[in-house]
Amino acid sequence: MTTHHYSDLQVCVLAAGKGKRMRSNLPKVLHKVLGRAMIDHILHTVELLRPKGIAVVTGHASELVREHVGQPANLEWVIQDKQLGTGHAVKQCEKVIRDVRDVLIVCGDTPLLQVETLEKLVSEHRQSASDVTVLTANPANPFGYGRIVRDENGHVTSIVEEKDASDSERSITEVSSGIYCVRYEVLFALLHAIGNRNAQGEYYLPDIVPLALNAGQSVEAVMMNDADEMLGVNDRVHLAHVEDVMQKNIIQEWQRRGVTVEKPDTVRIEAGVSIGIDTVIQAGCYLIGSTTIGDGCRIGPNAVLVDAWLDDRVNVYAFSHIQGAAVGSNTQIGPYARLRPEARLDEGVHIGNFVEVKKSVVGTGSKINHLTYIGDASIGSDCNIGAGTITCNYDGANKFVTEIGDNVFVGSDTQLVAPVRVGDNATIGAGSTITRDVPTDGLTLSERSTQKHIKGWKRPQKDKR
Ligand code: UD1
Ligand code: CA
Repeated sequence: MTTHHYSDLQVCVLAAGKGKRMRSNLPKVLHKVLGRAMIDHILHTVELLRPKGIAVVTGHASELVREHVGQPANLEWVIQDKQLGTGHAVKQCEKVIRDVRDVLIVCGDTPLLQVETLEKLVSEHRQSASDVTVLTANPANPFGYGRIVRDENGHVTSIVEEKDASDSERSITEVSSGIYCVRYEVLFALLHAIGNRNAQGEYYLPDIVPLALNAGQSVEAVMMNDADEMLGVNDRVHLAHVEDVMQKNIIQEWQRRGVTVEKPDTVRIEAGVSIGIDTVIQAGCYLIGSTTIGDGCRIGPNAVLVDAWLDDRVNVYAFSHIQGAAVGSNTQIGPYARLRPEARLDEGVHIGNFVEVKKSVVGTGSKINHLTYIGDASIGSDCNIGAGTITCNYDGANKFVTEIGDNVFVGSDTQLVAPVRVGDNATIGAGSTITRDVPTDGLTLSERSTQKHIKGWKRPQKDKR
């Protein structure tokens, strides 16, 4: 992780493009990679440099992008009304940049980029006292990227876009990442000199390379160690590919930090998730959003956790779904259990198969093992809630609360018609419909229908026709 503080560096993030090739109503940079918008990935990475400022160029659906990001203190929004090209986009930042040594230009659509790579670019740019430094790569497939053209001495002379390239230029495998570090003093003069006579009629940022050389300035290229980092997302095929690459990286990172991930190719662990040591993630699990899992837990197979919070040593058995719920340590959940938002389980709780818990607190050591709905309830400690219990919390118009004390035994197939309270140590007989408060201790049960026996009764037979 970075220890630098680049107080003399300005970052420019280019994010104005519509992303036509995404075929979407959403601006490209708001598309998510492992649960986090591309713009958030790149902002998170450049923040690690602790630059003087970050300018984000938006244009297409800029309100949506701004609304999504909010207003960090060191971030300035720059509008590019018409998307006339990457060079034109950077030029719009002129008003918001001053008194820095270098400007680092990154694109909003390269979410795999790592801060170490940006540090390498800035430090080599400075060591070589270069005016313009471009970050390059040798990807497996250079198609679609700008190619790095070098002279016989190996010096970079220009960057040619795919659409403008000759056949021999297209055979060049070294490409531009679209990321540059440029000395502030030369940048804007170069940008003002860019023209748009090219295949796309756009003001290309890469054209600062020949312009700098003509002006007697120096141009350097820094090669990335891992070409995957510059993979740009231009369409949804790229999006899926970038997500695959990021997913492998994230899973390997958790494995290195002490998490066992079984059948990693079947598991989704989003970027905002965190997992403690000695936790086992089994096949087919989806860990989504801000899900946080403690140490020594076992999850799955095929469990789905969305914005869930689990303490240590929690067992989540197969096919359980937990969303927006908090789970105390040593708790057992599932198989086939569902915890919904604002479910809060204390320690050592058991939630069994086909049990749904919503907006309810369940106290330490309580067991709800089979086929039950608990909603808008509080349950004390050491209770046993029998199979088929239902808190009837909704009268069709309003929601009501059920309060159950400690050490309560609720017999199977009980309906608790809220609002209702059950006192400590109470026992409720099976099959009861509870409509009034239940006192502490003793047995409470609703009147049962009488049981009859009809002697000699015969089952109907199937007609033989
Ligand atoms: C660009 C580079 C190419 C490089 C590739 C790396 C240019 C002309 N081409 O191509 O050399 O190999 O990135 O991924 O620079 N944008 C704006 N305003 C505009 C146009 C674009 O803000 O007017 C933004 C886009 O939102 C995007 C970024 O700039 O985030 C790059 O634009 P894109 O159209 O994706 O360029 P590429 O064709 O990928
Ligand atoms: Ca791109």
